Amino acid sequence: MFAATVLTLFPAMFPGPVGQSLAGEALARGLWSLDARDIRDHGLGRHRAVDDTPAGGGPGMVMRADVLAASLDAVVSPEDPRPRLMMSPRGRPFTQAQARQWALGPGLVILCPRFEGVDERVIEARTLIEVSIGDYVLSGGEIAALVVLDACVRLIPGVMGKEESGADESFENGLLEYPHYTRPREWEGRAIPDVLLSGDHAKIAAWRRAEAERITHERRPDLTER
Ligand code: ADE
Repeated sequence: MFAATVLTLFPAMFPGPVGQSLAGEALARGLWSLDARDIRDHGLGRHRAVDDTPAGGGPGMVMRADVLAASLDAVVSPEDPRPRLMMSPRGRPFTQAQARQWALGPGLVILCPRFEGVDERVIEARTLIEVSIGDYVLSGGEIAALVVLDACVRLIPGVMGKEESGADESFENGLLEYPHYTRPREWEGRAIPDVLLSGDHAKIAAWRRAEAERITHERRPDLTER
């Protein structure tokens, strides 16, 4: 079973959106599990401090290696086969291919940093894989962790229905998805493309392929080049 452990200063943010809809039903059915732990349980002193001023000076605060290691070590044994992620805008980009791989594995341990950064030594010593969900900066790793969990959980076998099994989805074939239509046949003067009503399945498939290529080329030339 896919077991997720999340280390955060805001455990109340979990399961949040992944406790709803498809992912939430799968959670309730036991197809995956989620354990959100409070990093502050391992904080130091009367104030349960988890951060300190940066060596070398400068603004902001840095999360302490000893505190983060203690919170990791309390939930992951050395034999735990799960990848240990750290959400970070400087991580390697998260992709659909990565989601598919992780979804079929034993689960994930996800560290969600806050503040300016994390002491580099804990990233090295606990071999954390830094993962980014895109080129923008969030106020912490929690929303990024929820994005990764959502993308993975829907791909766990048995979570999604057959009709939405995902083979046709954006990114699965290197293309963005073709446009969709449903009734009414005409709406605000706009008609459904004739080919989709022709009943000619080969023609429909060719049209969808061409549209997917056109949209990908227009919006994501970087995908076309790959
Ligand atoms: N934490 C802050 N910004 C992030 C991003 N873009 N991806 C992953 N984690 C983050």
